[in-house]
Amino acid sequence: MSEKLMQENIIKAQKEIENKKQKVKNGQMRQHYHFMPETGWINDPNGLIYYKGRYHYFYQFNPYYGHWDYMHWGHAVSKDLVHWEYLPVALAPSEEYDDHIRGGCFSGSAIEHDGKLFLMYTGTSNHGSGYEQTQCIAYSEDGIHFTKYEGNPVIYPPEGVPSDLFRDPKVWKHDGIYYMVCGASRNKKAQALLYRSKDMIHWEFFNVLAESRGEWGYMWECPDFYQLDDKYVLMFSPMGESDRKAVYLVGDFDYNTGKFIWQVSGEIDWGLDYYAPQSFLAPDGRRIIVGWANEWQWMSFWKDWGPTYREGWCGFFNLPREVRLMPDHTLQFIPVKELEILRENGQSTGCFAVGSQEMALKAGDGIAFEIKMKVDLEETDASGLEIDLRCGEGRKTTCTFDFKHGVMQVDRNASDGWSKGVSSSTLFLKGKKELDIHIYSDQSSLEIFADQYHNNHANNIFAGNAQNQIKVRAYGGSAVIRDYESYGMKECFR
Ligand code: FRU
Repeated sequence: MSEKLMQENIIKAQKEIENKKQKVKNGQMRQHYHFMPETGWINDPNGLIYYKGRYHYFYQFNPYYGHWDYMHWGHAVSKDLVHWEYLPVALAPSEEYDDHIRGGCFSGSAIEHDGKLFLMYTGTSNHGSGYEQTQCIAYSEDGIHFTKYEGNPVIYPPEGVPSDLFRDPKVWKHDGIYYMVCGASRNKKAQALLYRSKDMIHWEFFNVLAESRGEWGYMWECPDFYQLDDKYVLMFSPMGESDRKAVYLVGDFDYNTGKFIWQVSGEIDWGLDYYAPQSFLAPDGRRIIVGWANEWQWMSFWKDWGPTYREGWCGFFNLPREVRLMPDHTLQFIPVKELEILRENGQSTGCFAVGSQEMALKAGDGIAFEIKMKVDLEETDASGLEIDLRCGEGRKTTCTFDFKHGVMQVDRNASDGWSKGVSSSTLFLKGKKELDIHIYSDQSSLEIFADQYHNNHANNIFAGNAQNQIKVRAYGGSAVIRDYESYGMKECFR
């Protein structure tokens, strides 16, 4: 009976997608190569997995219109992490534990178990005494059509955890046992709770994996935990920590005690539009993460969701990034090598100097492009470098590298007459010979990576097509640029 209701709700959603997808396809602001929904609203990446020869993206999805509402799980597959094929909606709200209209099937993860694809997600309901979040299971034989487990929910909020602050299970397997980390809050402080199970159905609480003493907010959304070389990484998106939106901790973990002791912390991305990243393993062993390119209304720089809702959609994912551990146990987040298949019209230049006189740079059509370059810090006497992206009609987005004060900033106050805010991060340049810069520009976003992929800024901007120039200048002296390469990026989402 209840399975029937989910199928009906999926059919309803699919009809809506069929009716509206052409309008979204015609959208002026749709991305050229960043993954976006077929119609409607998208937020967190969910259930990322490489399963039976294909990468799967599931995602928080409202197929009906470009605003957050009544969460479904959208679904798409890819052979190369670049070209994606949409599949039917995987989960729709249908049960008393996941059917609240301001709730639904919230974030979660995927794992292979017993030859089937299992999803674990947060059901959100409200029966008159506040929101109730519980952890639920769905499974599939073919990786496309899912059945919700009849014994759902499999985990209820533990004592002391408010029932509206218990969500986003991320599952993995170690030595034949399943583990799951889930975001929670206790005494107004964030926690990552660790559970374990032998069969994906019966779960026991194991330990508090890590918790905030107040310095990392009151709730961790979308925690994720994995081994990287000989260390362990916990990632989460803290609520109540102003501009910290995608934090990582690196440390040691003991499967006997379930305790994680971390020594290093960092930010995955300092941009205004990077949230709730989830990781998965590629078949060649790379740990890859994907984050949602937007922010919530409770965040400091939030202005609005963006004008794309008028075109019937809102939101996309930032580019998949490979996570690498550095010798000092900080992390690098490097756009995956698969993206190189999108390159066209490559150009490269040897060494050149930039002074206070503005210079034009060429990269593809000036809208969808990639640029890589290095600043030779030994030959540079400038105090900083400014790169203006998507310039035209008196508008621009300025990326500044202040060598003297050690700051990187992306300013979008003049980007499009709509966006606002400056993203900012510290650049540690002391003793360094060069500063590497890597830029991806798409129709509605800029992702800028610097200093060995430690200083990353993802920012959405909604610039028109006449904004297609790129300019660079140095201040306080001249800057020497080496190994400049640029490419146009082929369309795969248009
Ligand atoms: C994070 C989040 C999750 C929740 C989902 C709801 O962006 O708030 O905690 O599961 O979005 O769509």
